[in-house]
Amino acid sequence: MVSPQSTVDDRSTFDLVVAANRLPVDRVVDDDGTSTWQTSPGGLVTAMDSVMEGREAAWVGWAGDPGESIEPFARDGVRLQPLALSADEIRDYYEGFCNGTLWPLYHDVIVQPHYRRSWWAAYRRINQRFAEAIVEVAAHGATVWVHDYQLQLVPALLRDLRPDLRIGWFNHIPFPSVELFGQLPWRASVLRGLLGADFLGFQRATDAGNFARACHQLLGATRTGDVVSWDGADDDRSGVPRRVRVAAVPISIDFTSLDQLARTSAVRERAREIRASLGNPETVLLGIDRLDYTKGIRHRLRAYSELLADGDVTPTQATLLQIATPSRERVSAYRELRAQIDAQVGRINGDHSVIGAAAVEYLHHSYPKEEMAALFLAADVLLVTPLRDGMNLVAKEYVASRWDGGGALVLSEFTGAAHELSSAFLCNPHDIAGLKRTILEAMHEHPAAKRKRMLALRRRVRSNDVFAWARKYLAALEAAPAKPGAS
Ligand code: F6P
Repeated sequence: MVSPQSTVDDRSTFDLVVAANRLPVDRVVDDDGTSTWQTSPGGLVTAMDSVMEGREAAWVGWAGDPGESIEPFARDGVRLQPLALSADEIRDYYEGFCNGTLWPLYHDVIVQPHYRRSWWAAYRRINQRFAEAIVEVAAHGATVWVHDYQLQLVPALLRDLRPDLRIGWFNHIPFPSVELFGQLPWRASVLRGLLGADFLGFQRATDAGNFARACHQLLGATRTGDVVSWDGADDDRSGVPRRVRVAAVPISIDFTSLDQLARTSAVRERAREIRASLGNPETVLLGIDRLDYTKGIRHRLRAYSELLADGDVTPTQATLLQIATPSRERVSAYRELRAQIDAQVGRINGDHSVIGAAAVEYLHHSYPKEEMAALFLAADVLLVTPLRDGMNLVAKEYVASRWDGGGALVLSEFTGAAHELSSAFLCNPHDIAGLKRTILEAMHEHPAAKRKRMLALRRRVRSNDVFAWARKYLAALEAAPAKPGAS
């Protein structure tokens, strides 16, 4: 739980404004009507919370529930500016267009995206409201850092309202190829919205390339180096030409604080307790994911159940601890996934568990960072097997927690993290036979070789931590081609 400070900075405008769909904390209203605040889910908040701590800045976002509007409040020096969404707006904008249209479309259409005009209308309205809330708190000439797929129209809306602002946008998730993106009935409007920014940051060069190709094919824009140039002409208006910098700036985590947390005696003791409560098996395998179809949890369970059936692992020798954090529970694809995973875990345990040793320990909860650090320290192998993932910060958190050089990371090739963490045990989660082999390799590789891999991974994450990421991003935004007010 988080207790926000009640006092707000006297200032009404800021030189740095962050805008994301969610505030870093979610409001939870109990049955008796009392409000508490807890850390919001997702990689965006994990990363941005560390970067923003102590900065003189404002953060505009939704408080995570269908509540009335809430007064701004301060937290770690940052002014949080809540934007209220009604129950209908949450249904159409957040659950609908963001998570029923864009999320599956941007993740390789793993499930079918739905294209509903009423959802798109809500997305436009809420993006407009975000832009209006941002200009309220942005000082003249301020830098505005907009985040993620929920707010793709905000850059151009902001530029129309306030040409003095320097506007950046960062996409935490993949940007799809134009062959997929082209399905979106409102594709040109989304590209126009993004081209209102001075700098667009992506997780991988492929994502930046996909965006530039979409601009070329769908708007006739050209790309020279990392600058996309568009004459501004389209169906709606003759427009103002735009030159926008587009590049990959892969996100990261606060390596040092996680490394230090994992070294504390409380976390080390808790890690021992976790292993003991699992019956001290030789190998603890761990999965920690938001319960999302992109994360490849079903593929992982399938591979593990086959390893059990083949006799390559036994429940007394190994335990798979799968933690699935509740997510988007009112969206049908997520409800179906939960039912499928519940059934799959039930079947595996029914078939393979023995008294006193469950084959899979499955927990549908979220945990505070101390417990996460203990889980990471307790795990011999972390299984990160998404079918598509913008980055996957859990993989980096695991590496940062392994100050002891222990552990092994099995990592899907379809994550942004795999582009940096090449010393991991890389896998294709669609290839169940290959995934089984990789899991066994990670379990049985010689300890010295495993340690060498982990130390290489740690060097990599340490040298590109979240603070280096933020510095790179803000420097690129500062150096973006268009000067504020010019086009
Ligand atoms: O990090 C990607 C991201 O989609 C964020 O934009 C989002 O806040 C998070 O994952 C969790 O999803 P949600 O906000 O829908 O719970």
